[in-house]
Amino acid sequence: MAHPTHATTRRPRAALVTLAALAGIVSGTVAHAADTTPAQQLERFASQAGQPGSAERGRVFFTSRHGGEWSCASCHGNPPTAGGKHASTGKPIDPLAPAFNPKAFTDTARVDKWFRRNCNDVLKRECTAAEKADVLVWLASLRP
Ligand code: HEC
Repeated sequence: MAHPTHATTRRPRAALVTLAALAGIVSGTVAHAADTTPAQQLERFASQAGQPGSAERGRVFFTSRHGGEWSCASCHGNPPTAGGKHASTGKPIDPLAPAFNPKAFTDTARVDKWFRRNCNDVLKRECTAAEKADVLVWLASLRP
């Protein structure tokens, strides 16, 4: 016996999947500027890590070379309260500490993208949530 309902249920299902995929693409490209705050990003990483960040650990992490050629400070400066300079291209980089750069840590996709890229450059792996929380606590503690 054939199942006549089968053919008819397939179409709407496929349409739904396509819609979901489209929505994902659209929100992925449109989710720019100012969808979050440094405090919310800290909260996100600290809760993923299951522990609050430590400013002292963050400072050591940020300024250490982890066995490679660069530290985070190589491009962002130490402390990262003024504009940095890309260690290989020389391109200017905005200050990373939020008190010195109102745009820092205000765009979730941007935060994730740069953490991924920069951690791979420095550590040859992604940073853990605990490491991100530490760095953020330290950055947030830097005041004019
Ligand atoms: C090779 C150079 C380089 C190194 C090393 C580097 N960064 Fe970056 N980072 C950049 C550049 C370039 C940007 C984009 C900034 C801009 O456009 O002004 C950036 C941006 C970021 C951002 C996004 C901030 C925001 O919300 O705008 C974070 C977070 C970050 N870096 C963290 C780190 C951490 C943590 C390390 C060390 C593991 C590190 N970076 C090492 C070059 C570097």
